[in-house]
Amino acid sequence: MTDIQRINARAAEIATTETARLIERTPQSKVWYERALKSMPMGVGSSFQEGDPYPIYLSHGKGSRVFDVDGSEYIDTHGGFGCMVYGHAHPKIAEAIARAASRGTHFAAPTPDAVLLAEEICSRYDMDQVRFCNSGTEATMNAIRIARAHTGRDHIIKAEGSYHGHHDPVMFSVVPNADVMGGREMPASTPMSLGTPKWLADYTHVVPFNDLVVLDALLEERGGEIACMILEPVMMNIGIAQPQPGYLQGLKDLLHKHGVVLIFDEVKTGTAIARGGAGDLYGVRPDLTCVAKATFGGTPGAAFGGTAEIMSAIGRGAAQQGTFNGNPLVAAAGLAALTEVLTADAYEYLATLGTRLASGCQTAIDSNGIPAHTVDLGAKGCVSYRPTPLTNYRDFLDTNLDLYAASYPWMVNRGIFMTPGDEEQWTISVQHTDTDIDNYIAAFSELCAALAS
Ligand SMILES: Cc1ncc(COP(=O)(O)O)c(C=O)c1O
Repeated sequence: MTDIQRINARAAEIATTETARLIERTPQSKVWYERALKSMPMGVGSSFQEGDPYPIYLSHGKGSRVFDVDGSEYIDTHGGFGCMVYGHAHPKIAEAIARAASRGTHFAAPTPDAVLLAEEICSRYDMDQVRFCNSGTEATMNAIRIARAHTGRDHIIKAEGSYHGHHDPVMFSVVPNADVMGGREMPASTPMSLGTPKWLADYTHVVPFNDLVVLDALLEERGGEIACMILEPVMMNIGIAQPQPGYLQGLKDLLHKHGVVLIFDEVKTGTAIARGGAGDLYGVRPDLTCVAKATFGGTPGAAFGGTAEIMSAIGRGAAQQGTFNGNPLVAAAGLAALTEVLTADAYEYLATLGTRLASGCQTAIDSNGIPAHTVDLGAKGCVSYRPTPLTNYRDFLDTNLDLYAASYPWMVNRGIFMTPGDEEQWTISVQHTDTDIDNYIAAFSELCAALAS
């Protein structure tokens, strides 16, 4: 047996024993799951909340902790899929929401808070104007609409393996199976959902992340038909794949040569990894930016925006509306989060904690010879179960799923609440402490030692 075969065999044993333990520890989650199966498909309100063997149903959260319906306490690194960089029930955000709620929860009329929040987002992302919406999906849908209106073109480009929400034009090649993804020089546009019109594949072109050659060839052939390219500037739905030096600027230059609008989907990166997201961190500003998740204080807000020239398409007849856009609870929470909680000091604190977590995990990986690596981007980071960093989706297909299957129940059974998918990453908050981080590292180090034993 090779070392890897031995580690994989241990991972399979660990996954079996730890999953059995997880089931023993969470009887009330199972009760809620069985009940929920009757009222919701798969027992959850969003398919991403599914879990193996069933999701853990939560009762509440406080600070860095969440509590499940069986009364167990966990250090939360799930962070509501990357939103909760302030921690749970942050007093400043909770107060702002309570104050707003006492003055009326909804008007569908503009308020001063919505204006102040728009100004703060514009300043962070170096944009002229924004419009609000209610989810990351809506933000990317709106941005694509506006780019199409601005250019008068219908086609779009996305990166293979990127998730931009679940509206039709972007539901292609999100997690394509190797047998249908086509060649690297011309990745296929593969539908990811039943119910997506087949003809739409002709309008969504797919290129590999971190590859300007394939993009250049596509633009030379079809550039005049393409309205926009939508891109996660750091891919965060395959673990984490960072842009290589020069990639983002090179991509922007190529797109602009053909009059194509560059949209950064900063739904996951935005406000979490830097004050002004990945555009700020890597020094490249797109034409349009989409934000949601961490930008709105843990409420269902989102926004997209960019240059006044492109955003003027809205005033000229491109439809952008929504009953709850700029809702007072969301505006109050977003404003408190951005102006009172996520200060310059907060980003420094998150950077220190993130580095402590990633380097602690890397030490455990190295000293036990586990084929994995860590990524550190401040509040967000991950362990990826492959030895070297990812450059694109096809690298992600080499991830060792056996190791992931062992790690999820192992960590959850030791009081670390994790996202239930191998493609996700940790999110830490301003309310996490060194002790929380050290507890994570201790549990992960024991896992590495157990895998190597
Ligand atoms: C990069 C990215 N874009 C868009 C979305 C969609 O956001 P939402 O789930 O709020 O619709 C997600 C969700 O995870 C995402 O990760």
